[in-house]
Amino acid sequence: MRASDEAPGGKNPPPVRLDEYEPRARALLPRATYDYFAGGAEDEATVAANLAAYGRYRFRFKVLSSVTNPDLACEVLGARLAMPVQLAATATQKMAHPDGEVAAARAAAAAGVAYSLSTLSTVSIEDVGAACRGTRWFQLYMYRDRGITTDLIDRAAEAGYNAVQLTVDTPRLGRRERDFRNGFGLPEGMRYENLTGALQRTGESAELGQSALSSYFTDQLDSWLSWKDLEWLVSNSRLPVMAKGVVRGDDARRAVGAGVAAVIVSNHGGRQLDYSIATLDALPDVVQAVAGDVPVLVDGGVRRGTDVLKALALGARSVMIGRPYLWALAVDGEAGVSRMLELMRQELTVSMSLLGVKSLSELSEDLLVRQ
Ligand code: FNR
Ligand code: LAC
Repeated sequence: MRASDEAPGGKNPPPVRLDEYEPRARALLPRATYDYFAGGAEDEATVAANLAAYGRYRFRFKVLSSVTNPDLACEVLGARLAMPVQLAATATQKMAHPDGEVAAARAAAAAGVAYSLSTLSTVSIEDVGAACRGTRWFQLYMYRDRGITTDLIDRAAEAGYNAVQLTVDTPRLGRRERDFRNGFGLPEGMRYENLTGALQRTGESAELGQSALSSYFTDQLDSWLSWKDLEWLVSNSRLPVMAKGVVRGDDARRAVGAGVAAVIVSNHGGRQLDYSIATLDALPDVVQAVAGDVPVLVDGGVRRGTDVLKALALGARSVMIGRPYLWALAVDGEAGVSRMLELMRQELTVSMSLLGVKSLSELSEDLLVRQ
């Protein structure tokens, strides 16, 4: 039974916070799928660190500021978004729910937030483009064959996407030991719909230190990716380019020098280099380096409206979330993702009122203390 079918007050009432979706999704999903979604690299220290970083900040709230209806709107690359919470690119969403990326993208559009489509999606660029008219960003992995990249970014522009996000933290896949154990690859009957021929599927791999997915990355994707490639992408893309996966101010500066229109502070949800700095801790350095020139977004471990307010007070324009919407998608498809976004909107509204700020532009470091 889907969570939304159940009567409020029943044994399993609908979730009232994002974290409630995870155990419900775990009960529904095959083990290898759950592990792939939930897992991270090696000790999963960065997965935990991303979450823990938010707990170290407390609010110095303002009183008597008569905030009844705080304005949650934010602007990124010319798009007016209903709230500063966007959906991050996550691969193969049909593994969560048969409607896959279409359901998540529709829920994002209905809530007025941006949806990022992974290169490794199980619905094509065009089909997601046709299914919803909201703000869409295309996440790019560069294949060794540059022709494939050119084709992907042209297709994204044709299909009405608004930006390309080059993921820069993944020259190869991090060591995800849960996936090694499960030999994780694409389940039967699913394909990477943006690609053709041999590139549509992972093979099989039970080699030591590999999953079928990590072998796919090693064999097909460009581990030589360099600053020159970022420059190449900026000059060959009709769409603005965002760099996703930066945690240092100097790298952020260099990316802006290469022409990116936005920087996303991310460590891939702790799935790449383990013991990477928590993204909230990396944010201030990147903000100081480039926020005067381009918007800075951040993802990793955002689970509460208060997390969003902390990231924005430290200078982020918006956050993005990954796993929480995969869990909501698994539990209840499009309706699940919609509900999850609505919970976020409600938490943000209440917390902004209690914090004493009317709009996101009033958020500043002065409202926080780090413990
Ligand atoms: C990801 N992420 C990701 N990033 C990317 O650039 N391309 C991709 O295809 C994927 N795929 C993917 C799959 C799964 C299952 C997860 C959990 C994550 C990373 C994603 O965009 C984002 O950076 C993190 O998910 C943010 O962390 P939280 O919100 O999951 O803690
Ligand atoms: C992942 C890749 C596909 O994190 O980005 O699984």
